[in-house]
Amino acid sequence: MNILAEIRSRFEPVLTEWTDDPSSVIDMLKPSQDSKFGDYQANFAMPLAAKIPDLKPRDLAAQIVEKVDLSDFCEPLEVAGPGFINIKLKQDWLEEQTRDLVQDERLGVAAAEAPQKVVVDFSAPNVAKPMHVGHLRSTVIGDANYRVLKFLGHDVVGDNHIGDWGTQFGMIIFGYKHFLNEAAFQEAPVTELARLYRLVNQLSDYHASKNSLSQKEQELEQLTEKLQTLENTADQTDKKVQKQLKKLKAELGEKQSALTSLQESLSKLEADEDLHSKAIAFPDIARLAREETAKLHAGDVDNNDLWKQFLPQCLDAIQGVYDRLDIHFDMALGESYYQPMLADVVADLKAKGLATESQGAICVFMKGKEAPFIVQKQDGAFTYATTDLATIKYRVEELKADRVLYVVDSRQSEHFQLLFATVKEWGYSDLKLQHVSFGTVLGKNKRPYKTRSGDTVGLESLLDEAIESAYQIVSQNDDEKQNGPELDEAERREVAEVVGLGGIKYADLKHNRDSDYIFDLDKMLAKQGDTATYMQYAYARVNGIFRKGEIDRKELRTNQQSLQLQEESEIALALQINRFSEILESVSTEARPNYLTNYLFELSNLFSTFYNACPVLKADEEMVKTSRLMLCDLTARVVQQGLSLLGIRTCERM
Ligand code: ARG
Repeated sequence: MNILAEIRSRFEPVLTEWTDDPSSVIDMLKPSQDSKFGDYQANFAMPLAAKIPDLKPRDLAAQIVEKVDLSDFCEPLEVAGPGFINIKLKQDWLEEQTRDLVQDERLGVAAAEAPQKVVVDFSAPNVAKPMHVGHLRSTVIGDANYRVLKFLGHDVVGDNHIGDWGTQFGMIIFGYKHFLNEAAFQEAPVTELARLYRLVNQLSDYHASKNSLSQKEQELEQLTEKLQTLENTADQTDKKVQKQLKKLKAELGEKQSALTSLQESLSKLEADEDLHSKAIAFPDIARLAREETAKLHAGDVDNNDLWKQFLPQCLDAIQGVYDRLDIHFDMALGESYYQPMLADVVADLKAKGLATESQGAICVFMKGKEAPFIVQKQDGAFTYATTDLATIKYRVEELKADRVLYVVDSRQSEHFQLLFATVKEWGYSDLKLQHVSFGTVLGKNKRPYKTRSGDTVGLESLLDEAIESAYQIVSQNDDEKQNGPELDEAERREVAEVVGLGGIKYADLKHNRDSDYIFDLDKMLAKQGDTATYMQYAYARVNGIFRKGEIDRKELRTNQQSLQLQEESEIALALQINRFSEILESVSTEARPNYLTNYLFELSNLFSTFYNACPVLKADEEMVKTSRLMLCDLTARVVQQGLSLLGIRTCERM
């Protein structure tokens, strides 16, 4: 049962006496931060009273409490401080609820009464470029949301909206035509394609830098002159002049160092004879690569054949990563699928008066937004935006979607704001659209995470590294193992895989997704603290208790009537177990898996407290032992189910 939702539903109708829109304040009823103030606490008396003349929040709180009836499962409500309402669950009710969970496979989580069709758009790498940690974050966050929504009974479609039609293909096709290493391609096609992509990128960067060099030098010269004039003519004792001089000097310093680093990178490339001669041979490589993309899009046979050859190879390589991470999609049409529909999308937007021509491009202008949403460029090419519009049309008309989640990094938030605004006007106003945005993965130097070679990290090697580190940890012999027998080599390898991959996923999920986070393998895999490892060990430890006591868990569960909550730590643990449902509900509305990681961390901590305070196998009475064993069993099941909803596995023994 979703306790929070039940309590809120009792308050909402009562609040209509003081506000037209109780839903706007109802989320001020939350679990308490501190159990001193009950199990849940409502703070809405303060904002509500502020709008009513001559009513003190405390008096309003008292009036609300008069009218709300929670007596069937809560102690009498209490008003505290300036107007807080404290809510405490009745202990015998909590005990009864907990007993009901013992045999409930869904651990108290009801399936949605009105299931929705939800599309989760996640991962979506641009193929033919190496996949990087940013795509890992989308993949992991998307997968967790997918699993939670599905568990809650929604009809979920996981869609990998692969970038398979972008400008990177022009670059690769150009590279293939001019710089291919045939033998390397035979041996490992995707690695060779990635090399070609990087090469063409590097060469076009070189020319772009070279072109901006003279401009940068000019700017520097002008700035130097300005500084000199000021030094020679202005009154140096004037405070204003001093300030101006200081500013100019700082600016000069910055420009100087930018120029130096540009020169350095240019001479680095020039030092490589092979690269340099390639650069000289193709001074307008950027344009040439763009032309290859344009030819591909225009239906050129050679380029389309190459694309058809490369795409499955690239997809295969990505699939390898998904397999290792246990990620599944229901569909992956990719951007290319929607290309035949784009002209119609633009025509329709024009016909509805939404899109207009501006400087040769076709744009949608939205009220309150400065930037236009460009759906067709001057040269006639359609854009990322057009493709997303066509995709939405498809998702509504073919898939019958009620809701779409876009798990994409925060740098694209402007795009999604414009997209969502356009879609509302376009006629899909019932569709619920959400940008599940996330921050950047940083290295310890607080810059976007890169490997030693300077490349954005190759995902496969990252996974290998995590598993290897986990193996070291698993192989340590310490007192954590007191309940478990020694593992043999094969078992340790298996556990290392579960711990290594779990650690990486958990770190991606536990942060508030809007913020950046620092990728630190040691911290991710730590046995203590807010890590998957900690919970995986907690899970294995509980299993150890059952092994040691030779307890048949199935049989144990038939004794649910002997479950009783007596000690403080038992009550706290039981309450947390009962909150699983409300947590999953909040994950699903806000698409925030970190609510679930927080919950599981707290659950593991409460379990530790319970386990230290209450002997289980050595309990004085048989009845108490059975009861505590049931709490252990429930905890383990919630941990396992919770982690599995995050895409993280557990081991029976570690
Ligand atoms: N391929 C894009 C990228 O890597 C992400 C696509 C996200 N999905 C979407 N429907 N726009 O940046």
